[in-house]
Amino acid sequence: MNRHALIAALWHGRDPFADPPADLRPVDLQGWRSIHPYLAEAVTELRPEVIVEIGTWKGASTLYLARTMAEHGIVGTVVAVDTWLGAVDHWADETLFAELATEHGYPSLYRTFLANMLREGVADRVVPLPLDSVNAAELMRLRGVTADVIHLDAGHEEASVAADLRAWWPVLRPGGLFIADDYDSLGGRFPGVTRAVDAFCAEFGVQGPWSHRGKCKFRKPE
Ligand SMILES: C[S@@+](CC[C@H](N)C(=O)[O-])C[C@H]1O[C@@H](n2cnc3c(N)ncnc32)[C@H](O)[C@@H]1O
Repeated sequence: MNRHALIAALWHGRDPFADPPADLRPVDLQGWRSIHPYLAEAVTELRPEVIVEIGTWKGASTLYLARTMAEHGIVGTVVAVDTWLGAVDHWADETLFAELATEHGYPSLYRTFLANMLREGVADRVVPLPLDSVNAAELMRLRGVTADVIHLDAGHEEASVAADLRAWWPVLRPGGLFIADDYDSLGGRFPGVTRAVDAFCAEFGVQGPWSHRGKCKFRKPE
């Protein structure tokens, strides 16, 4: 499915990046582990048409995926799913909370993401989907959108990750690749991620997960 078809399926044909505001914010690519070999390998090995990223923040990892596709002549789109409202770890930490740039009592993080995509020239390879993860997965399932690659980097609590894995598994095509962030076989900062991924792979009889530098990956059987 190309970007045009994704916008028809998810946005009733209205391009969310049309008519950007004149007062675009400056580029701000603060993120976490946004450049990672698993993301580049997913692009070069699967040559995906549709990547879904759940948890985008300011878009640094979205940009890396979109750029890597462009560099390899792959005509694909990243569907960037995020509420752009932050997660518990952002709200609980005063410095990260400031990054949400609340205005009149509501985060304005999406405006930073929007500016980054437009200023970095990848808007024609990205479709934002400002919904919570479970609703976004259901919308994509209803609209018949499947993903070749899913990068999960949203809520890091065990219950969130477990729910996200179950919600997104039907959206991933057979043979597709699932990548999850903040996986650490030694526990790490978010041990719930590791517990949820390991439990999911055991329950669904999935080989893996394989992990490297804080991310893990596993394939959906054909
Ligand atoms: C760690 S950040 C993503 C970082 C990003 N991938 C990068 O490389 O910079 C997590 C993001 O997930 C989003 N998020 C958390 N829970 C979510 C949920 N249930 N549905 C959608 N987005 C969620 C937050 O708003 C936040 O922007």
